[in-house]
Amino acid sequence: MAHLLSSSCAVNLPPAIKTYFRPRNKHTTSCLSSFASRTPPIFTSCRRTLQEPNFVYATATPISKELEHIPKSGSSTNSNGPISKPKRVMVIGGDGFCGWATSLHLSNKNYEVAVVDSLVRRLFDHQLGVDSLTPISSIQNRIRRWKALTGKTMQLYIGDICDFEFLSEAFKSFEPDVVVHFGEQRSAPYSMIDRSRAVFTQHNNVIGTLNVLFAIKEFSEECHLVKLGTMGEYGTPNIDIEEGYLTITHNGRTDTLPYPKQASSFYHLSKVHDSHNIAFTCKAWGIRATDLNQGVVYGVRTDETTLHEELCNRFDYDGVFGTALNRFCVQAAVGHPLTVYGKGGQTRGYLDIRDTVQCVELAIANPAKPGEFRVFNQFTEQFSVNDLAGLVTKAGKKLGLEVQTISVPNPRVEAEEHYYNAKHTKLIELGLKPHLLSDSLLDSLLNVAIQFKDRVDHSQIMPNISWKKIGVKPRAAPVQL
Ligand SMILES: NC(=O)c1ccc[n+]([C@@H]2O[C@H](COP(=O)([O-])OP(=O)(O)OC[C@H]3O[C@@H](n4cnc5c(N)ncnc54)[C@H](O)[C@@H]3O)[C@@H](O)[C@H]2O)c1
Repeated sequence: MAHLLSSSCAVNLPPAIKTYFRPRNKHTTSCLSSFASRTPPIFTSCRRTLQEPNFVYATATPISKELEHIPKSGSSTNSNGPISKPKRVMVIGGDGFCGWATSLHLSNKNYEVAVVDSLVRRLFDHQLGVDSLTPISSIQNRIRRWKALTGKTMQLYIGDICDFEFLSEAFKSFEPDVVVHFGEQRSAPYSMIDRSRAVFTQHNNVIGTLNVLFAIKEFSEECHLVKLGTMGEYGTPNIDIEEGYLTITHNGRTDTLPYPKQASSFYHLSKVHDSHNIAFTCKAWGIRATDLNQGVVYGVRTDETTLHEELCNRFDYDGVFGTALNRFCVQAAVGHPLTVYGKGGQTRGYLDIRDTVQCVELAIANPAKPGEFRVFNQFTEQFSVNDLAGLVTKAGKKLGLEVQTISVPNPRVEAEEHYYNAKHTKLIELGLKPHLLSDSLLDSLLNVAIQFKDRVDHSQIMPNISWKKIGVKPRAAPVQL
């Protein structure tokens, strides 16, 4: 991906920002131009170009001169003994929805933050012709604005973590005490568009995470990995879902084993593979890791993103990247019926974006021990899709909106009525104070949707990616034209 991203950096970067990319060979150049002319480009063939040894990627990109002189704090000890609070946090995927809110929050809490991102998510939007409901600034302008408002700096490394050379440079330069890893392709429908997107998703996510594990082993052994997994790894078993582990007695013997995983898309499967790789390296190399099995995140505002419009977070509502509640709010705002897939009994864990940032901070402040693979279920409440549709209908009425709900054929393969009871106590025990889905939050979410309703592209609302119809042929337009 970095070849594509380098080109977007070259176009957008203001003169104050230095970049270090040099297209070296014809392959790279043709890959760049093919991006402009093909829809969508075939990710896998481009990736091959990336891995050629001569490829030169965008690398460490200090956002301003001052940032080059941030002193490296002692990571785990100083003259007074161990430092309890880690200082230097590398946020991989820091330009994305959860990552941007978390980067700001941690910076506000006086952590030294480095954002690492390939900007591939912005590229997906271009390729699919979708856009955030809220206008979002470039990552460079976001960071610059944050510094102007607060005096706090963030470092920026633009590149692909599947490129180990790039990742190594970022690690050696920043020397993280903690890596928070959000940097993955995170949409289940995206991973089910066609073969090339399925392959891209698994390559991007599994190899990226594997590289992070090797980078920690090589450059930063004490570093705590806080990895974003998903509740979707567990599927919907007909028994209670525990936090990571299940104690089983079988034929008279008892053991505590990883909770069974029943992922239901190539994306969710990539997260399962990640979890296994992380668990293995904790055992084999003594890495310390926390796997945050996150539920579906809703909301857009956090204390920090509301400080200025240039800090605004993304808000996805389309059929590929939009999560259920955000999608329903936008549908209500524009007078589109809420699209419930199938029977609507699909039940999942949900949380407010303000709780995502809190949970990550709690995981950082209470690190896993060396060799420990810790799993937290990161959500605050359970809802079925029908529950959400009911809540949005009620909130819409209060604002004078006439909200209707329709059932559309379910594009996914999943149980539409099922038992669901997932534990989520560990983060509460560490001090999480949940923001539960209240009427006032729904009002404010709906108000955001209403504020930006002129930006809604109605053709992006309906789902158009079928789990059953995925084929080998690249799909040029998985959204409706
Ligand atoms: N949003 C949710 O509801 C939700 C729910 C459960 C879990 N998660 C997990 O949280 C994480 C973040 O999700 P999000 O909603 O913020 O996604 P997002 O797409 O908004 O952000 C992901 C970021 O990672 C970057 N990225 C992807 N691959 C990369 C690579 N190889 N190298 C460098 N950067 C890369 C993207 O450019 C993007 O900025 C994901 O791992 C996702 O699986 C999200």
